[in-house]
Amino acid sequence: MAHKKQISPSLMCADLLNLGAELKLLEKAGIEYLHIDIMDGVYVPNYTLGTDFVKRVKAATSIPLDIHMMVENPGSKLDWFEFGEGDYVCLHIEAEPHIQRALAAIKARGAKPMVALNPGTPICAIEELLDVIDGVLVMTVNPGFAGQKLVPSTLDKITRMRKYLDDHGHPEIEIEVDGNVSFENAKLMSAAGADIFVAGTSSIYAKGGDMFANAEKLRDVINNA
Ligand code: DX5
Ligand code: ZN
Repeated sequence: MAHKKQISPSLMCADLLNLGAELKLLEKAGIEYLHIDIMDGVYVPNYTLGTDFVKRVKAATSIPLDIHMMVENPGSKLDWFEFGEGDYVCLHIEAEPHIQRALAAIKARGAKPMVALNPGTPICAIEELLDVIDGVLVMTVNPGFAGQKLVPSTLDKITRMRKYLDDHGHPEIEIEVDGNVSFENAKLMSAAGADIFVAGTSSIYAKGGDMFANAEKLRDVINNA
C-alpha cells in the first residue's frame, strides 16, 4: 500500500516571532501537518511549546496538527489540549503505562492516535496497539532537542517497521520519522518506507536557507527516493 509522502515542519524550529507569515507560506507550499513538540522537563530534559501555543496555531491555520507529546503520563493530560478530526496526537510508549487507553481516548475525540518509539525501544512493543493506531513515530534521534545527529540503527528500523506492520496485516498504518531528517537522510528514510517527515533544522529551517525553497526541495527528495 503506497502512502502519500507528507511533510510535518517542526514548529519549535520556526521563526516564532514571525509565525503568522510562516504559516501562510507553509499553506502555500501544500504542507500536510504542523509538528508541535510538547516537553515537560521530566520525560525529556527541555521545555518547548505548550497548550496555549497549540490553541493559537489551531485557530490560525487549517493545516492539521501533529502533536508530539514528550511528557510523563501523557494520557492524563490530553484534556489540556485542543485537537480533533484530522490531527495526529503522538504519545511515547515509554512514558505511559496505560498506553492503549490513552491512544483510544485520542481516537474517541476523532483524532488520529500515533505511538512513538525511542531509538532503544523495540518494534515488537507495539504488537498489542495495532488496532488502535493510525501511525507510528520511529524516533531517529533521542527526543528532547533539535539539531542532533541521526542514530544510524534507526534507518534499518524503518525498513523493519514497515515489514512488521505489513506482515501483521496493517499496511494502512503510516510511519513518521523525527530527528535529523536532512535532505540526505530523508532520501534514505523515504526509501526505507517512511511516510511523514518531521522537518526541522536539518531541512526546511536550515540556517540561511529559504523555507519555501527548502520545503520544495524536501518534497522532491522524498518523492523521488
Ligand atoms: C523533537 C523535534 C526535533 C527537531 C527535528 O522531537 O521534533 O527532532 O525539531 O529537527 P532537526 O533534528 O532537524 O533539528
Ligand atoms: Zn518531535
